[in-house]
Amino acid sequence: MSTSPVALVTGAATGIGKATALAYAHAGCDVVIADINSERLKQLAHDIQEIGVDALAVTTDVSDIEQVNALHEKIMAHFGRLDYACNNAGIEGENAPTGESTLENYDRVMNINVRGLYACMQAQLKIMEKQGKGAIVNMASVAGLIGFPGLPAYCASKGAVVQLSKTAAVEYAEKGVRVNAVCPGAIKTEMIDRITRQDPETEKQFAALHPMNRMGTSEEVANAVLFLTLPSSSFITGQMLAVDGGMVAR
Ligand SMILES: NC(=O)c1ccc[n+]([C@@H]2O[C@H](COP(=O)([O-])OP(=O)(O)OC[C@H]3O[C@@H](n4cnc5c(N)ncnc54)[C@H](O)[C@@H]3O)[C@@H](O)[C@H]2O)c1
Repeated sequence: MSTSPVALVTGAATGIGKATALAYAHAGCDVVIADINSERLKQLAHDIQEIGVDALAVTTDVSDIEQVNALHEKIMAHFGRLDYACNNAGIEGENAPTGESTLENYDRVMNINVRGLYACMQAQLKIMEKQGKGAIVNMASVAGLIGFPGLPAYCASKGAVVQLSKTAAVEYAEKGVRVNAVCPGAIKTEMIDRITRQDPETEKQFAALHPMNRMGTSEEVANAVLFLTLPSSSFITGQMLAVDGGMVAR
């Protein structure tokens, strides 16, 4: 049983998820990290323990309901509680316009980004409702607020994350559980590197999408996730916080 707050991050092995897991650890939380990449999880668990808090690494594919349930059972067996969850695991899928994008891609993206997140949120809401408190932050995207050419399934998936977050926020508000989402702009991670192919010209075009004329960092997103989960945001639920250098304000 843990006396510190316990925070779960899915898709924690790299990028935004990794930065969020480290930020929770620096805030004094014990951290559960889940991802399909076991090797990277092992290294991150070690880094988190070096900070002086407990880390539990659980290899999990969020699109597999049995693995999702096993993850949440392990959390309760190890820590006996779950205070915060950041449902961050996601993929961008293939880059092709709507008319040419495949249904296989649609199914893959929706299975991980929406169905997987939904299954995680269901398990978390059951635990947090019993506790009478908890906070969930889902990783949406500006792609859930505005359209992006070449990423139809990804945009649809992030639009769904926005609506799942708002619905759960309204349903669980009186039960002490808050649900918010963050909507990052282009953040310099391996996902963006796959899309821009690290081509300096393409990276410049991505930077120019933001009034700040740069891409964001994983740490800047992690800071927003922490704000939305910690008690400092106790009267905030159902919000979609854009972390986008002003992109959707244009
Ligand atoms: N990078 C951006 O510009 C950006 C912008 C907006 C939103 N996002 C969202 O932020 C989240 C993290 O993105 P990132 O840029 O850090 O990407 P990333 O590719 O660097 O990291 C994603 C992590 O998710 C893990 N993952 C993938 N499929 C999984 C599955 N089925 N089960 C469990 N883990 C799985 C990967 O192994 C990886 O560790 C995603 O949901 C993404 O859609 C990213």
